[in-house]
Amino acid sequence: MDFILTIGLISLIIIAYLVLWPKRNLPPGLPSWPILGSLPYLDIKNLLEQLLKLHRKYGDVMTIHMGSKPYVFLNSYNVIKEAFVAQKEYFSDRPDSLFVNMLARVKGETGMILAKGDTRNHVRGIVAKALNKTFNVGKTQFENNVMEEVHVLLDHLDEKTKPYDMRWSLTMCTSNIVHVLNLGKRFAYDDESFQEQLEGEKELFEFFIKAQILDPFPLLRFLPGDIFGYKKCLANQTIRNKFFTKHLEENQENDCLLKHWKEMAKEDPNSIEIESLIVLVYELFEGSIHTNSSTLYIALAYMLNNPGVQEKIHKLIDENIGQDRQPTIADRKHLQYIDAVCYETLRLMPIGPMGIPHICSKTTTLAGYTIPESAILIPNLYAVHHDPNTWPNPEKFDPSRFIDEEGKLQNHDKIIPFSMGKRVCPGKEVAKMSLFLVLTSLLQRYHFSVPPGESPPSLKVKLGLTLELETPYKVCIIKR
Ligand code: HEM
Repeated sequence: MDFILTIGLISLIIIAYLVLWPKRNLPPGLPSWPILGSLPYLDIKNLLEQLLKLHRKYGDVMTIHMGSKPYVFLNSYNVIKEAFVAQKEYFSDRPDSLFVNMLARVKGETGMILAKGDTRNHVRGIVAKALNKTFNVGKTQFENNVMEEVHVLLDHLDEKTKPYDMRWSLTMCTSNIVHVLNLGKRFAYDDESFQEQLEGEKELFEFFIKAQILDPFPLLRFLPGDIFGYKKCLANQTIRNKFFTKHLEENQENDCLLKHWKEMAKEDPNSIEIESLIVLVYELFEGSIHTNSSTLYIALAYMLNNPGVQEKIHKLIDENIGQDRQPTIADRKHLQYIDAVCYETLRLMPIGPMGIPHICSKTTTLAGYTIPESAILIPNLYAVHHDPNTWPNPEKFDPSRFIDEEGKLQNHDKIIPFSMGKRVCPGKEVAKMSLFLVLTSLLQRYHFSVPPGESPPSLKVKLGLTLELETPYKVCIIKR
C-alpha cells in the first residue's frame, strides 16, 4: 500500500513539474485554465480596450494563453526594441499557424512572411533592393507613378456631387500604386474580379482574431455552418489563386517587380525559386491594399471631427504650393504638419495594431522573464501608441504634438506603426510617400465636410489584422 502511495505521490510531483515548468518565470498575465487557457477571461468584442487595461495591470510584457500556448504581448517601445532589435535572432520568425499560413502560403509555396533565419534575410534583402534601387521608391520616378494614380482618383472624385463614401476609391488608388510596381498594370475602379479579390482579403484580415481561437482547437473548423468564417476564407483562397495565376501569366512582359525578379532568378538560379517570387508579389499586394487606404479614410474621419486641422492644412497648401501645380515630395519639408497629421492618425490607429505574430525560435530571457521556445509574440503597437506616460492625453487627436516650436517634426520616432527590426514593414517607404502625396493632393483640390444634418463620423474601430472603422461614413466633396 505504502509503495503504491509513494509511486502515486512521485507521479503527481512529476506531472505537476512537467505542467508548471514551462510556465516558470513567464511574464505575468491572465489566469489560464487547462485546455481553454485564458479564453474564458477574454472580452473578444472589446479586445483593444481590454488589452490596454491588462497592460496597466500586468506591465510591459504579459502572457495570455490560447489553449496551452503562451502568447506574449509586448506593450512598450523599449520591450519591442529589446525583442525585435537587440534579440532579433530569437524573435524574428513567424509561427506556422492557421492564420499565417492562410496569409502567406500560395498553392503550398512560401515567400518572405514564412521565410526563416538566413532565408528570411536573403528574401527580404531581394525585396528591399528591388524596391529601393531598381524601382526607386522614395525618388522622382516612383513619385510620378503615385501622382498618375492620384490624378485618376481626383478625376473620379470630381464627379461626386452628392455625399460619398470614399473608402473604395481610396483603396483603388493606393492598391494600384503597388500593382503598377508589382505587375506593371493597374485595375479599373469597376473591375469586378478585383473587387472580389479585395473583399476576400478584407474577410481574411477580419478572420485574424477568430483564427487565434481556432488554432489550439483545430476540430472546431469542422463544425457544421461557418461561425468562425474559416470556410469562407478557404473558398476565398481558391478565388485568389486563380486571380493571381491569370494576372501573372497575362502580365509577364510588363516592366515590373515580377519581370525583374524572374530575370534575376534565370541569371542566378540559386538566388530564389520562381514559385517564391509569385508569393512575394502576392504578399506585397496583400500588405498594401487595406493599410494605406484605411489610414487615409481614418485621417479624413479625424479631420471631419476636428475641422481646424483641415483649415490649417488648406492654409499651408495655399501658401506653399497654390493651385497651379501638383504637390511633390520636395514640398514635404514645408508641409511637415501634413506628415504630423499622418503620424497622429497612425499613432491613434496603427493600422496593423498587433503587427503579424512572431515566434520565439529558442528559449531565452526578455525583460527578466523566460520566453519559452515556440511562444507567440505579439507587438502591441496600439498599447505603445496609447501609453499616457509617453503621450499626454493619448485619446486626443492632436497633430501638433509632433511639431516643435520652429514648426519642425518631433517625436515621430516614438511611434512604430511599421514595427521594427528584421520584420519591419517592407512597404514603409511606399506607404509614407503615398500617404503624403494622396492626402496633400486631396486637400489641395477639395474641402471635405460632414453632410448637412449628420454628425461627424464615429471613430469606433473593429479589430482584425488591420483596424477598420466600425461604421462607414459619407462626406461632401467640395472643389476649392
Ligand atoms: C500605413 C501603411 C502600413 C502600415 C501601418 C504597415 C504596417 C505593417 C506591420 C505592423 C507589419 C508587421 C511587422 C512585424 O511583424 O513586426 C507589416 C508587415 C508587412 N507589410 Fe506593411 N504596413 C503598411 C503598408 C504596407 C505596404 C504599402 C506594403 C507593400 C508595398 C506592405 C507590405 C508588408 C509585408 C509584405 C509585410 C510582411 C513582412 C514580413 O513578414 O517579412 N505594408 N506592415
